[in-house]
Amino acid sequence: MPRTIIIAGNWKMNKTPSEATSLARDIAQNIGKQAVPSVVICPPFTALHAAATQIAGSAVRLGAQNMSDKASGAYTGEISAAMLRDSQVSAVILGHSERRSYYGETDAIVNKKTIAAIEAGLSPIVCVGETLSEREANKTFEVIHAQICGSLANIQPVQTENLVIAYEPVWAIGTGKTATPAMAQEVHAFIRKELAALFGEPAAQGVRILYGGSMKPDNADALLAELDIDGGLIGGAALAAKDFLALVESGRKAS
Ligand code: PGA
Repeated sequence: MPRTIIIAGNWKMNKTPSEATSLARDIAQNIGKQAVPSVVICPPFTALHAAATQIAGSAVRLGAQNMSDKASGAYTGEISAAMLRDSQVSAVILGHSERRSYYGETDAIVNKKTIAAIEAGLSPIVCVGETLSEREANKTFEVIHAQICGSLANIQPVQTENLVIAYEPVWAIGTGKTATPAMAQEVHAFIRKELAALFGEPAAQGVRILYGGSMKPDNADALLAELDIDGGLIGGAALAAKDFLALVESGRKAS
């Protein structure tokens, strides 16, 4: 079975509910019921409801940018998987490099969140990626190996059906510097090998591995043409409907 391409927009800490209403409306009106590629928008928590209202009835799916590993209780400021599910959310970005670097999320924390997401029926989009100094020290594969094994510990092959990985080299996020398609493909192929070692080859072949880091309409076609690049996790270019829809079109052409 070919892997359906995913074009996911990570809005980060941008868009008020009113701004999200207009962006989600523009995206949903354009995508309609077109199911390929699979389109996901990930607004901030406060805009989930507004976005859900606009995309209702379209093929656009809703994602969140983070969640708690706990089910409920005295965890002030946290949001649970069940709360996301009941807000029409079907996917959740976990372990983004900004959460790892600014909020101290370790692989062990990302692992707990990933398991909680899977158990709640959410599709986790687990982010990994090396920093510039790690790349320059030739540690890229070592770092990715540790992040993949740590973030995906204690997960069974049958639980990988909706698992998505995003390879986001930290040096490429929001910097305008993109990994070349060959550089990205090399790491994506390595990630798939790691997944095969953890879950077996058939499961690994089914996992979508997205590229993230300054993906734009003018570099997306070349990235998406690579064998193991199954879509994009897009930050900056997901904040304007025109750019995001151009990326969706690249996803459609590559499908
Ligand atoms: P960017 O962000 O597209 O702005 O580089 C990607 C991401 O951080 O998910």
